[in-house]
Amino acid sequence: MDIAARVRAHKRLARLMQQAYSAEKAAAFAYQGHAASVRKEEEKAAIHRIELDEWEHRREVRVLMDLYGVPVSRYYEVRFHIIGRTISAACHVLGWFMPYYFAGRLESGNVCEYFRMIHYFHELGVTAHDRMLYDMGIREKEHEVYFYERIKNKKALALFERIFNWGASKSFNDVDLEALKPVEESEGYCRTGRG
Ligand SMILES: [Fe+2]
Ligand SMILES: [Fe+2]
Repeated sequence: MDIAARVRAHKRLARLMQQAYSAEKAAAFAYQGHAASVRKEEEKAAIHRIELDEWEHRREVRVLMDLYGVPVSRYYEVRFHIIGRTISAACHVLGWFMPYYFAGRLESGNVCEYFRMIHYFHELGVTAHDRMLYDMGIREKEHEVYFYERIKNKKALALFERIFNWGASKSFNDVDLEALKPVEESEGYCRTGRG
């Protein structure tokens, strides 16, 4: 089997790429609504920059999918389109805190998607995408930290952390921007239960 066929046959990898591709669109839509719902210009600008990062991720995932002939999933495209538009609209009625909280929580989960892709590609002996996927994972971590920094002093955070399992002491990944592993060691990320 050639490598493209082996990637397509790696169901978890192929599905993860399809899902990430569509979920990036949902995230970008959500940030459009989020940016529109905040008042301060600097917050709008920061969220807009994150939206642009998500479109860029979507393009990069698509390049990988095309390289290996992994088709876009119509199911995920429709599903995440609806999710993204719904969240986008919801931002206008949820107040200030919740869009920040759930954006941070979502980003926290996205970090490991890209490190997991590295793991799966390595299972097939493919290391050519390590740098790109590493950069995407780290960018998601930066997004998580950005959103966390906005809400870390808010009273509601402790309650939300207890209910939704993300906050000051809980994250869905084990990446620490203060002590980053180099790309060659990034295999070690996201190996734990939560990661
Ligand atoms: Fe992203
Ligand atoms: Fe992100």
